Amino acid sequence: MTSVDNELFYEVLWDAIPYPSFVISRDNRIITANSSAETYCLSSIKQIKSKPVGNYFGGNGVILNSINQARDTQVSVTLYNVEVFWFSKSITTHDVIAAPVNNNNEKILLLFHPNGMSKKLNRSLSHRSAARSVTGMASMLAHEIRNPLAGISGAAQLLESNISTEDQELLEIIKIESQRIGGLVDKFQTFGDIRPLKQEPVNLHDILSQAKRAANAGFAKKIKIFENYDPSLPLTKGDPDLLLQVVQNLLKNAAEAVSLTSGQIIIETAFKQGISLNVGNRKKENLPLQFSIIDNGTGVPNQIKDEIFDPFVTTKFSGSGLGLSLVSKIISDHGGVVEYSRRNSRSIFSVLMPVWAKSSTKGN
Ligand SMILES: Nc1ncnc2c1ncn2[C@@H]1O[C@H](COP(=O)(O)OP(=O)(O)OP(=O)(O)O)[C@@H](O)[C@H]1O
Ligand SMILES: [Mg+2]
Repeated sequence: MTSVDNELFYEVLWDAIPYPSFVISRDNRIITANSSAETYCLSSIKQIKSKPVGNYFGGNGVILNSINQARDTQVSVTLYNVEVFWFSKSITTHDVIAAPVNNNNEKILLLFHPNGMSKKLNRSLSHRSAARSVTGMASMLAHEIRNPLAGISGAAQLLESNISTEDQELLEIIKIESQRIGGLVDKFQTFGDIRPLKQEPVNLHDILSQAKRAANAGFAKKIKIFENYDPSLPLTKGDPDLLLQVVQNLLKNAAEAVSLTSGQIIIETAFKQGISLNVGNRKKENLPLQFSIIDNGTGVPNQIKDEIFDPFVTTKFSGSGLGLSLVSKIISDHGGVVEYSRRNSRSIFSVLMPVWAKSSTKGN
């Protein structure tokens, strides 16, 4: 291709992007835009060129900040669920990506993606309210069940010493089932817990390794669990006990999903700059820490894919369907996000978390 052909090709390519896209100069003016941008801005490219970028989407401070951040850090920044007030007066929700074009002239590519990831995140956030809706009933039930349960367990222990061997088996059932109810009550109680969240610096690798050791000693005795950690992962903020519960629930699901003979679970961590969540009031939370529990099972059945984070959704004979809704509630309370995806015949539960910073403990 000649350089003219090349130029034409890139121009056509640029216009083929079906989302409004802009190139922004170092003083935050529009250098160029594509055809889709013309539709959203109700102006021709000629008119758009060299105008301050804020003119076309209501001077949205969050977007301007992300452009500046991408320029300063030379790392692309993604904002999810941003309400954009277009010049055309339409208000739409987009994921906004600000990506540095190159290192020298500080140009930024600004791309508005409708839906996509944001839908997933919306779902993930709405689980929070679903989980909340069981909160009141949960704490009431937990309270009412705990006392009689303690009575049953105590009586079973007293019986143990003078019971015939044939009745021993029945007693064992009483003990195991009481333990199961106890576990359920614990889960309910976490739902009902409305105390403010602990905001400690937490090393995720410690939590993940601890959960792995417990899994290998218990429910995942015969399953290979691999660790693939990013050594540069900074600390996150939150409650280590609750985060341990999250990992335990995800590992237990993974162990229950894989085959005993060829089952594999991978625990992975990564630091991914530029992923943030709009938390309203023009505040955004950066979520660069990622940990994933990956398994080679057959994946979540299609018919429940959209509901797995809702309470009481289960495909298991003795499952409560509370594991993932608890995970979702705890992660939302930490300002993070959890999502499910399927790639290369593997099921991936990924959690995005904020970084711990001294100042971030205030006002949260
Ligand atoms: N790793 C996974 N692979 C395939 N399906 C999964 C996986 N994790 C969860 N699921 C599906 O999502 C459903 C809900 O999971 P959740 O952890 O909320 O409840 P549960 O595991 O059924 O019960 P409990 O957690 O109380 O033991 C599961 O029943 C299962 O069908
Ligand atoms: Mg579970």
